Amino acid sequence: MNKEHKPIIRVENLTVAFGDFKAVDGISFSVERGEIFGFLGANGAGKTTTIRCICGLLNPTQGVVEVDGKDVSSSTLVLKPHIGYMSQKFTLYPDLTVRENLVFAGSLYGLTRAQIKTRAAELMQFIGLTQHLDEPVKLLSGGVKQVVALAATLLHNPDLIFLDEPTAGTSPATRADFWRLIRTLAQNGKTIFVTTHYMDEAEYCGRIVLMERGKIIAAGTPQALKKQFFPQPPVELLFKRPEQARVRAELKARNIASAQMFGDALRAEVQDAARFDKYTRQNQAIFDVHPAQPTLEDVFLKAVCGREGK
Ligand SMILES: Nc1ncnc2c1ncn2[C@@H]1O[C@H](COP(=O)(O)OP(=O)(O)OP(=O)(O)O)[C@@H](O)[C@H]1O
Ligand SMILES: [Mg+2]
Repeated sequence: MNKEHKPIIRVENLTVAFGDFKAVDGISFSVERGEIFGFLGANGAGKTTTIRCICGLLNPTQGVVEVDGKDVSSSTLVLKPHIGYMSQKFTLYPDLTVRENLVFAGSLYGLTRAQIKTRAAELMQFIGLTQHLDEPVKLLSGGVKQVVALAATLLHNPDLIFLDEPTAGTSPATRADFWRLIRTLAQNGKTIFVTTHYMDEAEYCGRIVLMERGKIIAAGTPQALKKQFFPQPPVELLFKRPEQARVRAELKARNIASAQMFGDALRAEVQDAARFDKYTRQNQAIFDVHPAQPTLEDVFLKAVCGREGK
């Protein structure tokens, strides 16, 4: 692909309408080469629809979508070898073995049997699944299936890799393994465009776009988003558990702070520092108040669900 400095993806005023309904509503953003770009948003926000437009699988109703400086709708065939797309829907054939699935995926990209064999061996080594090569996919665990789907996506060695909820429904250990692979791919110069509903995963992204009902509502690095949505860092309150709900309700009713529950703690965003201090000093149930780092989960809840969140 062209290595001169220009974004690998440029989306300008993209709109996708299904009848009267705009699934994507005039969004603009760009993605730089080699970055891990997180595309976040609630269910139905328009993430998959946007990815399908960038991959040339769906024509925009309006707007410009360029990959590597080329208009996607008129250059799909030229761009296809450079793009890998792990779709949100599971796309492997359950009755075929891992090896057979990889051969099939490779043949779709015009690779020869010999090329597929070499590349499959490399990938199995890379993702650590050599022992599963001759097992039918239907017998693999959910997490292993997802990793095999990633291998099928990488078989033709694409530069630009779309991962649409690649870790959905997998265990924390599998998610950690998956993200190690993603980071290694990015370190090797690949561009990763990833969607996830796990906000701890979003922390691994270099930049994030947050979508809501077809529109972009926030964009930036994880740090910048935290600063934007929490100019005053929240505080955490620890207290005896039966009191938690009462304290939360009181803080809210008196408009001192908005608070969410996290296990035994309340995370509060303080509106009135003086009244908050007085309230916590006088409240016997509260035994600790300390500053907390906002997480992307906090940002997401505030940006997408409104102030109160859960
Ligand atoms: N082919 C289609 N025809 C009609 N509506 C569609 C079509 N594809 C998607 N939609 C609608 O567009 C909206 C956005 O869908 P999309 O799949 O892009 O959301 P998403 O952000 O990927 O959500 P999720 O997190 O659940 O995967 C949804 O309301 C969906 O029902
Ligand atoms: Mg989706």
